[in-house]
Amino acid sequence: MTSSTTKDHLFELTRQYASLSAQNTLIYGNISHTTIQDFLIKNIISSDHFSQYPPSTQYQKSFWKRVIVHLESSSNEDEDAEFELSPDIYERYLSLITSRPSGVKPSLSVGEGPPEKSFITYFWKPPVNSPNRGVNEPYLKATLLESRAMIEMGTTGLNTWTASFVLAQYFVDHPDLVVGRDVLEFGSGIGFTAIVLSSLQVLWHRPHSRLGKLWFTDVEETVLTTCQSNIALPCNLSSLHTGVKVQTLDWFASLDEERKPSVAKLLKEDIAPHVIIGADIVYDPLLIRPLLATLQMALEPDPRNSPICALFALTLRTQRTKSEFFRTAKDMNLIVDDISKEAPRSVAFLSGTTPHRDFQDVNLFRFSMMT
Ligand SMILES: C[S@@+](CC[C@H](N)C(=O)[O-])C[C@H]1O[C@@H](n2cnc3c(N)ncnc32)[C@H](O)[C@@H]1O
Repeated sequence: MTSSTTKDHLFELTRQYASLSAQNTLIYGNISHTTIQDFLIKNIISSDHFSQYPPSTQYQKSFWKRVIVHLESSSNEDEDAEFELSPDIYERYLSLITSRPSGVKPSLSVGEGPPEKSFITYFWKPPVNSPNRGVNEPYLKATLLESRAMIEMGTTGLNTWTASFVLAQYFVDHPDLVVGRDVLEFGSGIGFTAIVLSSLQVLWHRPHSRLGKLWFTDVEETVLTTCQSNIALPCNLSSLHTGVKVQTLDWFASLDEERKPSVAKLLKEDIAPHVIIGADIVYDPLLIRPLLATLQMALEPDPRNSPICALFALTLRTQRTKSEFFRTAKDMNLIVDDISKEAPRSVAFLSGTTPHRDFQDVNLFRFSMMT
């Protein structure tokens, strides 16, 4: 194996660890035990980033268990003639199996219990032409504290959904759409697109240029608090953005005569966005009308400011949801362009071997108002 292929494989292993990839997808490649061991000690065990933002204890336990099994298997590489498993790796594993899961109550159920919350780090490559691109860091990190369950505390908002990766990649590929502009996100969840979009604005910011304002909205208090603290994690470039706001916005308020005026004020006066975005926010037919009513309000032409672009990345899971979505959009005088052909079909944030992420199912829709 050439040294650059070895380097790529080892980076892929780090990326898999950081994003909690399933153990059966971990790639060790044809690399000597000695090289893998030295790499893991230097880049994971001794990493400041992973000490500060570690994957869940449950995940780390199974990761190191598998590493030990791999490193204890026989190797044909000449370099491994004298190979011995390092005490650093044993000690890491021992400390994990004797520790309690961090930050959660011990489980009353048998076995490992429900999945713990975890820091997850997604690596991504900033566009090559971004003016403030760090020379020493080819990859940036988007680190989030996430739930490992699809629904936790009654909300879908505590983990990152597949459409979010597609939407964020679309803007990494088309940074001109958001650089220096004011952006409003509906149903932001815990902030993956928020981190990437804020980072893009920071990367493009120059002393006398406009940074842009970013409004990330959601209905759930816990989701918003987590979103705010994820954006502010010092390892994320988003922490340097001075124009980020995290704001409660309930789409149902747009259909409620009493609350509607304050939503209109928020959308048209306070935010007045140039760009409106959303990822995986059409998953329940009951939410479609309130969501599209809110979008309609935000898109209404206004002499002060009219949005130039509204883009949703959606996984429309059932025929019923699909039909309801298009019928309601028509009722609301919204034109929906399916621009899925322009959607990225792979994303840089995850390892190529990540299962359960079907990017092909994500559609990209652009909205405008009928005139
Ligand atoms: C499936 S999650 C997607 C989260 C994030 N956009 C992503 O792709 O990772 C749907 C989000 O919509 C939010 N949501 C649900 N109902 C809402 C409402 N009535 N008003 C505003 N946001 C809502 C949820 O709290 C949740 O964060």
